Amino acid sequence: MKTDQEYISEIKKWKKKRGALILAHNYQIPAIQDIADFVGDSLELSRQAAKSSEKLIVFCGVHFMAESAAIFSPEKTVFIPDLGAGCSLAASIDAQELRRWKAKYPNAVVVTYVNTTAEVKAESDYCCTSSNAIAVVNSIPKDKQILFVPDMFLGSYVAKITGRDLIIYPGECHVHARVRPEDILSKMKAQPDADFLIHPECGCVSNCMHLVANGDIPAEKTHILSTGGMMKYTKISKKSDFIVATETGIIHQLKKQNPKKNFAPLRSDMVCQFMKIITLPKLLNSLINLEFEVKVPKEIAEKARVPIERMFKISN
Ligand code: 13P
Ligand code: SF4
Repeated sequence: MKTDQEYISEIKKWKKKRGALILAHNYQIPAIQDIADFVGDSLELSRQAAKSSEKLIVFCGVHFMAESAAIFSPEKTVFIPDLGAGCSLAASIDAQELRRWKAKYPNAVVVTYVNTTAEVKAESDYCCTSSNAIAVVNSIPKDKQILFVPDMFLGSYVAKITGRDLIIYPGECHVHARVRPEDILSKMKAQPDADFLIHPECGCVSNCMHLVANGDIPAEKTHILSTGGMMKYTKISKKSDFIVATETGIIHQLKKQNPKKNFAPLRSDMVCQFMKIITLPKLLNSLINLEFEVKVPKEIAEKARVPIERMFKISN
């Protein structure tokens, strides 16, 4: 059995030998974040994959993210160290189910969150992330019916902000769905000086807005942000204490980039087992044995690129 240090030096050796780029999502285990060339949110990582000169990408994140990287970079080869790295939210709808749902609303347009398979994106009109979902919905003419897929919490948050009557698919992420308003109220009471950062996939995001509206939690301290948004906000904020309501893996990167600031998870059990499945031995195996390639069939990739490019036109 090798030590972490031995794995790290072997990974560096094989990374060089393969000419590979290692990408890690903000929720990966600290050892994977520390060895990656880039750490970021799902979209930032796909962009990095596309603009890097390396032809071989090892994507340490979940499968739909690696698919997005493959869609963005058709001339590159994308590997994921463990094919079991799924996503409960992406698994909540498949292409067949979306086609069935669309058939009920033939005049509607489909806005799809990035946490979906390439096949689901290929059936969609617009793609969105948690940071641009409002801009994407606002860009669609007011008289158009909109089907929002698949996260019901992000959907209800976007509906509230835009005032649009979205038809929302009842999907959810098991990690974010467990957050309750009581968690927020008690943690903010215990840390009255802290700012509160919440991912819009959280189960209480619309309740959270009620709490803000009622003055139960202060509006100026509450920030609804994607993981990339959390990284940016904490860097520029003058505050030193933050309560973070998303997968706990992000705390490592927040602390690393802001060593003088303090970050506490809202709940320490907000852990995504799919993200944690990737380990140093699996990353090394991926580099040595060139496993496991993530391929998106050409016709699906071409169709999936359309809603993604529409999103980029609306918000860069
Ligand atoms: P971000 O795109 O904000 O990194 O989120 C991805 C994700 O899986 C949230 O659970
Ligand atoms: Fe999917 Fe939730 Fe894990 Fe994010 S935290 S990858 S949405 S299961």
